[in-house]
Amino acid sequence: MADLDSHLLRHFLDARDQSVSGDRLAKELGVSRVAIWNRLERLRGAGFVFSASTRKGYVLKSVPRELYPALIEAHLQRLNFQPKLEFLTEVDSTNSEAERRLAAGQEAPFAVLARLQNAGRGRLGRKWHSRHPGNLYLSLAFRPLIAPDRLKPFTLWMGLALCAHLDKNLGIRLGLKWPNDLLAPDGRKVAGMLTEARLDADRVRECVFGLGLNVTAQREDFPEELRQLASSLAQVSSANLEINQIAAEILQALWSAWKDYEAGIWIKSFMPYWERYDVLTGKFVKIGLLGEPKEGVVRGINEEGSLILQSPAGLTQVISSGEVTLRKD
Ligand code: BTN
Repeated sequence: MADLDSHLLRHFLDARDQSVSGDRLAKELGVSRVAIWNRLERLRGAGFVFSASTRKGYVLKSVPRELYPALIEAHLQRLNFQPKLEFLTEVDSTNSEAERRLAAGQEAPFAVLARLQNAGRGRLGRKWHSRHPGNLYLSLAFRPLIAPDRLKPFTLWMGLALCAHLDKNLGIRLGLKWPNDLLAPDGRKVAGMLTEARLDADRVRECVFGLGLNVTAQREDFPEELRQLASSLAQVSSANLEINQIAAEILQALWSAWKDYEAGIWIKSFMPYWERYDVLTGKFVKIGLLGEPKEGVVRGINEEGSLILQSPAGLTQVISSGEVTLRKD
């Protein structure tokens, strides 16, 4: 049933602002005109706007401003990309859902996408605000054929690949703040990444890459305490952003970044992307997490993806994990 909707929507997306005749749709989809009319009525009920003229047919005028599975599917068809995708209206956390499905033996790779999360998780046990249906809550699940220490630069790579995708396709330039944040030009956070893995001694058994990307949320859509800290694609771009199209395109971009990673061919793009999107090199930062907090100037990263920090005394330190605060002084 959802399949008919996605094929129907695909015809409208292909036609852009041209009309699509009800007769033609009925013939091409192998159903009656009444069935088409019923479908369009249902889609209208879900927030799609169609104009209708008896002579020419229908034009798709606008789509819902939240994730709608048949529309994501229609965009994926247009991209000629058909990943295994689980869509949920609401879930605790897409990462947790992906982990449960992996534990139950579901074949990987697959993606989990939710309109809302009620227990979205961030790094270091934090919460991820997930109550806006125009943002993206997405997890990709893999059983990768790689050794555990090859997973280290993975999150950075995925973040850089996403920055490159947004830059090229939407003209939106975000920065990557090591190790897992994507920032707007004003320093507010637009996206966070959370990679979780189960490891054997010599291979990664299962890996889940989670992305929370604020797409259409406006300042007032965030709780008061996040308004100074969080931003969204819509707040940094004047383009008309359609969440379903963005979701499909990002899914494809991340999938392909993962394939390049697994095949080991990501390395050639990593440094050029890092040089373009990293926001820390040359900056004075404070890094805390375990043990003594450290301060110094960031001098780049090493090939494992660890941060290279030069202390005020000139000492070079290699930091493999931590929470970075940019120092203003
Ligand atoms: C962070 O910045 O601390 C990471 C945030 C990661 C949030 C995403 S939303 C989709 C996926 N499911 C979760 O529960 N978390 C990640």
